[in-house]
Amino acid sequence: MTPPDIPLHSADRLHGLVDELHARQPLPAEWRNAFTEVPRAIFVPAWYEHGLDERGISVWQLRDATDDRERWLQAVYSDETLVTALDPATAEKVGDRAWTGVASSSSTAPGLVAGMLTELQLESGHRVLEIGTGTGYNTALLSARLGPQLVYSIDIDPGLVETARTRLAELGYAPLLAVGDGRNGHPAGGPYDRVIATCSVTRIPEAWIRQTRPGGMILTDLALGIDGGIVRLVVDPDGGATGGFTATSGRFMPARSDATTYPVRERAAYRPESGTRRTAVSAADIQEQYGFRIALSLALPEAELVHHLDDAGGPTSIQFQQPDGSWARTPVGTTDHPPTVTYGGDGALWERVEAEWARWNEQGRPGHTAYGIALDPDGTMRGWRTTDNYVWPVG
Ligand SMILES: C[S@@+](CC[C@H](N)C(=O)[O-])C[C@H]1O[C@@H](n2cnc3c(N)ncnc32)[C@H](O)[C@@H]1O
Repeated sequence: MTPPDIPLHSADRLHGLVDELHARQPLPAEWRNAFTEVPRAIFVPAWYEHGLDERGISVWQLRDATDDRERWLQAVYSDETLVTALDPATAEKVGDRAWTGVASSSSTAPGLVAGMLTELQLESGHRVLEIGTGTGYNTALLSARLGPQLVYSIDIDPGLVETARTRLAELGYAPLLAVGDGRNGHPAGGPYDRVIATCSVTRIPEAWIRQTRPGGMILTDLALGIDGGIVRLVVDPDGGATGGFTATSGRFMPARSDATTYPVRERAAYRPESGTRRTAVSAADIQEQYGFRIALSLALPEAELVHHLDDAGGPTSIQFQQPDGSWARTPVGTTDHPPTVTYGGDGALWERVEAEWARWNEQGRPGHTAYGIALDPDGTMRGWRTTDNYVWPVG
């Protein structure tokens, strides 16, 4: 995307955003200063807005300051995630400045950026590796906080890295940028005091642990089958790592192994329907209770949660499924009390959901921060609940 030839700075809007972030969750002074030094507008000169076109087709509409400066400024200085790149292999032009396709990069909502940077517990002099350079906005904030010479950032997409390099240079920052699969870390810059990922991983890469000094921290979105969230792990001297889900929660696009290949989950064919019965757990219980979803993610690590939608994109049911093709589905928004569950294959799948629901209620409904992850030096991952130190083998 070419930056529009329009003044990009709006100090008032920038200060407004910083005040809004601070009012919502007090920002430590050093981060307040960094957010004030870095105009998000430089990193997001344009974005793709999701919507339906006149034929009802779901499209990405390119928006920038030439289109509507006021709208652009409003978007850039709001606490919204803005999609900034579409995968060229899937993007198809379907109208004037309109594309279909898969989003491949975004500028994360500033509130989530601020929450994660605060969770990172950075200190001056720390050396940090960021996975997922994207627009370079977070890289610029890290550079403002630490000095660019202590900031390393890597993205799988070479085009994004080059654009980010140019924008960072506009602010006088020259952090070390690299292109590659960030799940391998960036050994040349290590050992790091902190590793922060703004794409999700399904396991904590061993390379991150090896490249972080003992006592250093790794902050990432950990995508488990049912749900996931942001975990902060401290690296142990023996090469393991331990930590928990942070109060700041958010989800990120998955790490991919090259710039144009998207992770696809292999799924077995669904087993035939075998029954319907009443259940104690409703779709609303699952949708509304993040702590429960994290408990389930650790208790049923092989299971996946999918959302079924109607043609207008409204949710109709949620379904758990597991690698043998067994599934169990319950409707969203039902007036049936108790609700029903319909299942195929192993009927024990939903029984395990119900058993976990009973345990989670007995435990006093712990929130997501009551759960943690431990990685042994051999890579074995365990989940645990801090309220009673209960441990699950996760894989
Ligand atoms: C949510 S965006 C990052 C937002 C960015 N931190 C910012 O401030 O604009 C996620 C990024 O992760 C990158 N990514 C995906 N898989 C990756 C991988 N294996 N290694 C490094 N970067 C990856 C994507 O290209 C995308 O730019």
